[in-house]
Amino acid sequence: MKALTWHGKHDIRCESVPDPQIEEGRDAIIKVTACAICGSDLHLYNGIMPDMHSGDIMGHETMGEVVEVGKDNRKLRVGDRVVVPFTIACGECFFCKRGFFSGCERSNPNSQKVKKMWGNSPAGLFGYTHLLGGYSGGQAEYLRVPYADVGPVKVPDELTDEQVLFLSDIFPTGYMAAEFCNIHAGDTIAIWGCGPVGQMAIRSAFLLGAERVIAIDTVPERLALAGQSGAITLDFMDKDIYDTIMELTGGRGADACIDAVGTEADPSASWDSRIDRIKVATFMGTDRPHVLRQAIQCCRNFGVVSIVGVYGGYLDKIPMGSAINRGLTFRMGQTPVQHYLPLLLNRIENGEIDPSFVVTHRASLEEGPDLYKTFYEKKDGCIKVVLTP
Ligand SMILES: NC(=O)c1ccc[n+]([C@@H]2O[C@H](COP(=O)([O-])OP(=O)(O)OC[C@H]3O[C@@H](n4cnc5c(N)ncnc54)[C@H](O)[C@@H]3O)[C@@H](O)[C@H]2O)c1
Ligand SMILES: [Zn+2]
Ligand SMILES: [Zn+2]
Repeated sequence: MKALTWHGKHDIRCESVPDPQIEEGRDAIIKVTACAICGSDLHLYNGIMPDMHSGDIMGHETMGEVVEVGKDNRKLRVGDRVVVPFTIACGECFFCKRGFFSGCERSNPNSQKVKKMWGNSPAGLFGYTHLLGGYSGGQAEYLRVPYADVGPVKVPDELTDEQVLFLSDIFPTGYMAAEFCNIHAGDTIAIWGCGPVGQMAIRSAFLLGAERVIAIDTVPERLALAGQSGAITLDFMDKDIYDTIMELTGGRGADACIDAVGTEADPSASWDSRIDRIKVATFMGTDRPHVLRQAIQCCRNFGVVSIVGVYGGYLDKIPMGSAINRGLTFRMGQTPVQHYLPLLLNRIENGEIDPSFVVTHRASLEEGPDLYKTFYEKKDGCIKVVLTP
């Protein structure tokens, strides 16, 4: 089959690789009808996530048709049309039973390696380094889905692939980010990053009752799309973000702040962003947490800082003094997609949201390597790429 494979920094190729096979009784094989490139894939593309091996198959936003089912799988049948969560979860362990699927303690066969770095291991993920399981990803013609009687969810024929594909990741992620904010009527939610995740967070914050959303980025078409969703938009290259948020909130700060940027914050945003960049480049630091610092400073007393932008290591100069003295709550995580998927499918079916509004580029798998570049460089108005193998 054809698949998009990783070969080093900025080197993604469309290659012929062996077809996946059923390995365990609960597995299924999916013929991929649509897959997407995520901002998290850019961390691999940019070579900042460790333990990628040459030839690893990329991708964790995938849907398609079931073409083979393992002998112990009682949930799926050949021909089912399903969306596949990016988090791999057994459904039975301590964490899965509590709905914390992205904390599954069985799905990462390389958990011992991660324990050394993070104290313990989260779930395995599709197409996301050997640290998180080394599972082949779904930017391919076929995908092997482990524990396929837990993750994949059948979707109704009336909805198009583009309407349901983002249930695999960015819609639940943006929704979780907003849900973490514990939104009450009248609330102002500030959101850093108007990439696909930020866009989903903006719509979700309104769905959950926010009165105002302040959306921050510098890319014109991303700010424009945020504006179309009803957000007040701020360009961080144009305005002092802290001063403007204070002006907009009577000097108090936003009720909750969402970091939908993570470790690859734009190094030109401020002096601390530039220092972060130098520290990472010289191995003096692991991450570039400018957005997290700013989100803390801009949050009102006893507000929530909701973090879905991904960080990898040990973050420097986080203003914990501000956070503890002013009673902030931190919530964060890789999304337990299985927990949110049924609820959000319902919201799509009810017409409350159509997540396909973020799609700007549609292409074949063969064009994938070029589109990685376009998405990374934010060229050609690119916000979200959907590939159809
Ligand atoms: N927690 C999860 O489960 C989960 C799931 C999906 C994605 N993610 C993470 O969410 C983040 C965003 O993903 P995406 O697909 O939207 O990626 P993206 O790279 O397309 O978007 C990031 C946006 O942040 C903007 N940005 C950069 N510096 C900024 C700053 N200082 N202030 C405000 N905006 C700034 C960029 O211009 C860009 O538009 C990534 O870190 C990704 O890994 C997390
Ligand atoms: Zn993702
Ligand atoms: Zn589990």
